[in-house]
Amino acid sequence: MKIIENSESEVRYYCRKYPVVFQRAVNAEMFDTEGHRYIDFLASAGSLNYGHNNPYIKKAVRAYLEEDYPINMLDMATVAKTEFLESFTELILKPRNLDYKIMCCGPTGTNAIEAALKLARKNTGREGIIAFGGGFHGMTLGSLACTSDRGSRNGGHIPLPYVTHVPFEGTPGIDSIAYLQWLLTDDHSGVEKPAAIVLETVQAEGGINVASAEWLKALRQICTEEDILMIVDDIQVGNGRCGTFFSFERANIVPDIVVLSKSISGFGNPMAILLVKPEYDIFKPAEHNGTFRGNQLSFVGGKAGVEYYVQNEMEKETARKAEIIEEFIRKEILPIDARITYRGIGMIWGIDLGAINPDLAEKVLKLCFEKNMILESAGRNNSVVKLLPPLTIPDEILAEGLHILRDAICAACKA
Ligand SMILES: Cc1ncc(COP(=O)(O)O)c(C=O)c1O
Repeated sequence: MKIIENSESEVRYYCRKYPVVFQRAVNAEMFDTEGHRYIDFLASAGSLNYGHNNPYIKKAVRAYLEEDYPINMLDMATVAKTEFLESFTELILKPRNLDYKIMCCGPTGTNAIEAALKLARKNTGREGIIAFGGGFHGMTLGSLACTSDRGSRNGGHIPLPYVTHVPFEGTPGIDSIAYLQWLLTDDHSGVEKPAAIVLETVQAEGGINVASAEWLKALRQICTEEDILMIVDDIQVGNGRCGTFFSFERANIVPDIVVLSKSISGFGNPMAILLVKPEYDIFKPAEHNGTFRGNQLSFVGGKAGVEYYVQNEMEKETARKAEIIEEFIRKEILPIDARITYRGIGMIWGIDLGAINPDLAEKVLKLCFEKNMILESAGRNNSVVKLLPPLTIPDEILAEGLHILRDAICAACKA
């Protein structure tokens, strides 16, 4: 830990929040160098939906490593890439009747968001983007301009132009769809017609704000009528997190561009892709590129990940666990204080303590950490406790974590 404190940049974050040195991790448990065990309700910010060291995925990655197969290959044709594209198409796209071209981006979510914004601008010849208050889309300048929270935006130190933020569904006192319609149709709204609307169907960092199916449908219709591209950022809430592989399936809509990263590599290796309707797939060769858009271990893990997802009926499993979580929140956590509210879907839930005290969520995280549990806060003033365990968490560990959380909220409310 000393070397981290002395040598690593001041920008470090999680290692301050959880000041132990982690050594091992298995499914929803992490172990530090002293042998202490921690329950993981963070899943590396949603990049480990299938758990740490998932045995099925690890077997494929290890088998690949045993041979002298290539590891990084730019975007050359390789067996690993071919097999990933085949599996993803057969197991995920085709059963959902989705016809997308798959674009391999640099390995981070933010790089894929940059690609999506560039592609929307290239297709429409327009510059502007509409994003939502509460949205998080990454930290590079284009994506940061779409990200709404001040803390992140302040790090940019230059203007973050070409993006207009509008209220998300549920913003108090505002009919967000009516507002958007006014903005796009009133020739005195002061806002140019944008290239794209970018959104998370469930705002994760924004405090677990779940858009309704009706709202998503209305948004899709506006995009179609106004000839604006709909970009769904499924980086955190895709890959099964919401109970279906894509978060937008519940609304029965088809976005023009879908952005996937985090758990798409199955094993936690870096990877990001765009799914693009064929008519919008117009980048010239290498017009968006990146050295690490061909990480072969990510393709291997990604193939095994979608196989694991289908073979283990993760949708059923997530629905079952979602019920366990929601029932626990209703029965055990809401009675602690009438001001507590909650939101969520699938395996992403938020317990909003902001009405009691905006600082309470951080206190709860500290108390949970003292009981060897890792989780994160989100939302306005970080006042929402965010539950994001691996989808594969065993029932008994899920229950153990929920009890630790309940006790922590109880203790924080009484203090
Ligand atoms: C919804 C969403 N979009 C984009 C990003 C940025 O991804 P990355 O950190 O890999 O750049 C994140 C990261 O948390 C995210 O949750």
